[in-house]
Amino acid sequence: MNLLIDNIKELVTVSTKGKGIKVGKEMRELGIIENASLLIEDGIIKKIADAGKIKVNDEVYVLNADGKIVLPGFVDSHTHLVFAGSRENEFGLRAEGKTYQEIAKSGGGILSTVNKTREASKKELFKLAERRLNKMLKLGTTTVEIKSGYGLSAESEIKILDVINQLKREHYTTIVPTFLGAHAIPIEFKNNPDEYVELICNYILPHVAKNKLAEFCDIFCENGYFDLTQSEKILSKAINCGLKIKLHADQLSNFGATELGVKLNATSVDHLELLNEKGIEALKNSKTIATILPGSSFFLNHKYAPARSLIDKNIPVAIATDFNPGTAMCYSMPMMLTIACTQMKMRIEEAISASTINGAAALGLQNKIGSLEVGKVGDVIIFDVPNYKYIPYHFSENFVKHVIKEGVLLEL
Ligand code: NIG
Ligand code: FE
Repeated sequence: MNLLIDNIKELVTVSTKGKGIKVGKEMRELGIIENASLLIEDGIIKKIADAGKIKVNDEVYVLNADGKIVLPGFVDSHTHLVFAGSRENEFGLRAEGKTYQEIAKSGGGILSTVNKTREASKKELFKLAERRLNKMLKLGTTTVEIKSGYGLSAESEIKILDVINQLKREHYTTIVPTFLGAHAIPIEFKNNPDEYVELICNYILPHVAKNKLAEFCDIFCENGYFDLTQSEKILSKAINCGLKIKLHADQLSNFGATELGVKLNATSVDHLELLNEKGIEALKNSKTIATILPGSSFFLNHKYAPARSLIDKNIPVAIATDFNPGTAMCYSMPMMLTIACTQMKMRIEEAISASTINGAAALGLQNKIGSLEVGKVGDVIIFDVPNYKYIPYHFSENFVKHVIKEGVLLEL
C-alpha cells in the first residue's frame, strides 16, 4: 500500500541530517516542518513537501492528518517483555518500606518471575507478550528490543528467545532480540555461580549465536548478580560469537560496569542511576550510548541517572521503558518523556530525540528508523494534540490517533 499523509500541522522529523544520532545541543533540534505532507511508497518514505503539494494517483491511499501532529514511532530499546506472572506484592512491600534488594534476598525479585516463566508454555508466553506489544503500538511504539532473562537455564532461555523470534516474525512491531541469560544466578547454581557462567559461555551463547536467536547479549553487572570478571568473560564470549553487547550498569551500585562496557565497545550501557565521574569520562571518549530508564527510578524511588550532565558533555542519551514486572511495570514511552522532563531536567525536545533516533542508534538501526526522512522506513505516529509539547505535558493520556507501520495504516 502506498500512503500519502497530508495536512500535517507539525511534522516532527527528528532529522539528523544523515548523522544517525543526536548529541549535546543537537538533541534540542527536532527538524520540525510546519504544514507538511509525507508520501510513503512500499514502506519507505519517498517524499516530504508542503501540505497539498504532493499529487498522487488513485492507487495511493490519502490520509488527511487534519492538522494533527506527526512524529516517528517511538523506539523502546530496553525491555524485558516476555515473562509470566506479576509482582504487585513486592510493589506493596516497597510501599511499606522494603527495598528492591531486601525483597530479592527474601525470595522475591527476578527469581520469582523465573519460576513463573519456566512453568509457562511458549504459547502462553507468546499470548502475554503479543498483548503487551499491541498496547505498546497503541501508545506509539513501533520498535521494541526484548530481552530473555527469566529462564536462566539453557532450555528456558532458548524457549524465551524462540518466543521473541516468533513475535519478530509475526507481529507488526519491529523486534530486536537480546540474550540476557546472565540476568541473575539461578537457584541451581547458588553455591557455584562460576559454573553458570561456564554454561553460558560454553553452551548457551554458542547455541544462541549459531541459531541466530539474538542480536545482542546483555548482562546484569551488579553486586550479587555478575561481577566484573564474570561479566567480561560472558561479554567477550558474546562478541566472539558475533553478538553486539549491552550492559545493565551502575543501577544499584557502582563498581565500574560502565567502564567495562566502554572497554568492550558496548553499543549501550543502560540504567546508570549511580554513574560517577569516572564512568562519564569513559563514555565521553567512546561510541557507547547511555540509555536511561526513567520508569525504574520512578517505580523504585531510586536516584535518577545524571541525564543533564550526560547531554551537556555530548554523550548520546537514549530513553527506554525497561518494561519488566519488578522495577518498571510500564510500557508507555510518553510517560517516560514526562518523567525525563520532570525528574531529570531534560528538555522536551531532548526527550523526544532520546526516545526516537537515539533509541534507534542504541539498537544499531539508526539508518532505518527513528526519524522521518526520505529513504527511511515509514513508521509514523499521528497524535491528536495541539503541538508536540502537549504529549509529555498531559501525562498518562494516550493521544495516539493513528499508527502507520512500514507505510501501513494499522487498525488498532
Ligand atoms: O532492568 N536490573 C535488572 N533487571 C531488571 C529488573 C528485573 C526484575 O526485577 O524482574 C531491570 O531493572
Ligand atoms: Fe532492564
